[in-house]
Amino acid sequence: MQGKRILLVVGGGIAAYKCLELIRRGRERGLRFRCVTTRAAEQFVTPLSLAALAGEKVYRDLFSLTDEAEMGHIRLSREADLVVVAPATADLLAKMAGGHADDLASTLLLATDKPVLVAPAMNPRMWAHPATQRNLRQLRADGIHVVGPETGELACGEEGPGRMAEVETILAAIEALLVGDGPRLEGVRVLVTSGPTREPLDPVRYLTNRSSGRQGHAIAAAFAAAGAEVVLVSGPVALADPPGVHTVHVETAEEMLAACLAALPVEVAVCAAAVADWRPARRLPAKLKKTAEGPPPTLELEDNPDILATLARHPEARPHLVVGFAAETEEVVAHARAKLARKGCDLILANDVGPRSGVLGGPRNRVHVIDRDGTLESWPELDKREVARRLVRLVAERLGRAVCA
Ligand code: CTP
Repeated sequence: MQGKRILLVVGGGIAAYKCLELIRRGRERGLRFRCVTTRAAEQFVTPLSLAALAGEKVYRDLFSLTDEAEMGHIRLSREADLVVVAPATADLLAKMAGGHADDLASTLLLATDKPVLVAPAMNPRMWAHPATQRNLRQLRADGIHVVGPETGELACGEEGPGRMAEVETILAAIEALLVGDGPRLEGVRVLVTSGPTREPLDPVRYLTNRSSGRQGHAIAAAFAAAGAEVVLVSGPVALADPPGVHTVHVETAEEMLAACLAALPVEVAVCAAAVADWRPARRLPAKLKKTAEGPPPTLELEDNPDILATLARHPEARPHLVVGFAAETEEVVAHARAKLARKGCDLILANDVGPRSGVLGGPRNRVHVIDRDGTLESWPELDKREVARRLVRLVAERLGRAVCA
């Protein structure tokens, strides 16, 4: 993304403060920013802060003679690689959908021939309003790209969809649009599992593991960015649902299996969840109490279903391509090869999850990709989002081969 130029239109919403972070993080990755504010935006973030972080003057006024003389609104967008609107308020979206041009922001959005990415942010009821949804459909039909919004608690104190996408999510969307050389998977349906499972012992205790869901969620997001229709079945994680993905939240392995079977048929299944292998044999209806005497209770376990193996051996609806992960702490490749054969998948991504690797819960991953025919490809240590993008490319190649064969 080195040297790519972003024209950032800052709308008037509380999320405008996140633009400062967007500029910082974006500049760290080599992006250059030029900012345009609406009048309302300046109630939330000052042009001075934006100018200081962007290292460039902020443009505000359509009829300012100096701005028009130095750089007309046409030139502003001509000199950008991508126009980003963040936060895109309900009002700005409505103006864009209606083709209004009554201030600098709306005028340049009407005049631009560059790709435009909007990051909506508003109150959940404004977001759900038929007018906003109608505007959004119009904008999508006009070729505008949309990232978010996310669901959660909003500054107005309400909960629901409407929170502007996180800075990292917006940057990933920017990157996908700028790099733009990735494969396209429109029309392909993909199932991804992610996160740990939680296996209850009683109403207050459960068995689980250290999986954060970062890798699985990044994979779901990368497939969605490539245009695939993605169902993400996720155990309990502290991550936001990826934009553009249908996320099904589950807790136990049995619930995860049921949600995966309900998502079939799919062309591709990627099992990245760290499913608990066992669950307590008895799920107690009331809290297990300590007794004054006697030994501590023993925990009897029983097997959980193997979701990957079930999908790979599905008699009627086996996905074209079934991809598993192998979390190993020793003899990573040898164990992963055996796992691939045992579970019947087509590809397995083996990773070392030993305590010194930092993989479980961390942002980076080092994987070895093992094919059914035994070939091995080792990737360097990468950000989990880059692992996800490489996997999408690999899957696209495989699907291409499957289609040609
Ligand atoms: N997996 C699954 N359902 C299970 C267990 C694992 O779908 N009940 C999937 C994981 O999502 C992963 C692959 O199987 O894609 C391997 O998981 P891993 O934990 O590495 O292997 P295990 O099956 O637990 O085997 P082992 O305990 O021998 O490492």
